[in-house]
Amino acid sequence: MKLFIGYATTEGQTQKIVRHIAERLVDQGHSVELATFGAAGPVDLKKFDGAILGASIHIGHYQTALTDFVEAQLAALSAMPTLLLSVSLAAAGHDAEDWRGLDKILSDFAEATGWTPTEVMQVAGAYTPSQYDVFRRFAMRRIVAAKDPEADLDWDKEYTDWDALNAQVDTWVSKITA
Ligand SMILES: Cc1cc2nc3c(=O)[nH]c(=O)nc-3n(C[C@H](O)[C@H](O)[C@H](O)COP(=O)(O)O)c2cc1C
Repeated sequence: MKLFIGYATTEGQTQKIVRHIAERLVDQGHSVELATFGAAGPVDLKKFDGAILGASIHIGHYQTALTDFVEAQLAALSAMPTLLLSVSLAAAGHDAEDWRGLDKILSDFAEATGWTPTEVMQVAGAYTPSQYDVFRRFAMRRIVAAKDPEADLDWDKEYTDWDALNAQVDTWVSKITA
C-alpha cells in the first residue's frame, strides 16, 4: 500500500514516533512518503491509499502547521482512510480530567477544521528538558513533578508506549487493506 505520513514536532518526539512508524511500514512492504507539514504543502494525497498525520499538543493546541495542512487538504483527507496521532504528556497518565482535556482539544480541532479523522490515537510523548528554554523548563518541571513523582526532572524521559503504538497502527493498516 502507498501511505502518506505528515507531521509537526516542536521538541522532536513526534518526529521520532512517525519515523519509527515509517520504518515499520516499509519493513512490512508498504511504500511510505514521510514529510513535515511545511514540506508537504503541495502533496497530491489522491496518490495514496491512506494518510497518517502526527502532531503534538502545547498549551492546549496542536501546531498551526497541522491546522494549515488539514484546511488545505480537507477534501482529500475526508475521502481517504486517515489516522491522527495526537502526541501529549496528558496521554501518559490516567487522570480523567487530563483525558477530558484531550477530548476537548480534539473536538475543538475537528470543529475548527471540519475534519474528522477515521481514527485517532492519543500517544504519550516525552518530557525533554534538554530541548526547553529556561521558561519552558520551569513550567514543565512543575507539571511533571506533580504528575510523575518518580521522574528525575533534570533528565529527558520518554513515556511513549511503542508496543501500543505498533499495535494500533497495524490494526489501522489491516483495516484499510481489507
Ligand atoms: C511548553 C509546553 C507546553 C505543553 N503543553 C501541553 C499540554 O497542554 N498538554 C499536554 O498534554 N502536553 C503538553 N506538553 C507536552 C508535549 O505535548 C510533549 O512533550 C510532546 O512529547 C511534545 O512533542 P514534540 O516533541 O513532538 O513537540 C507541553 C510541552 C511543552 C514544552
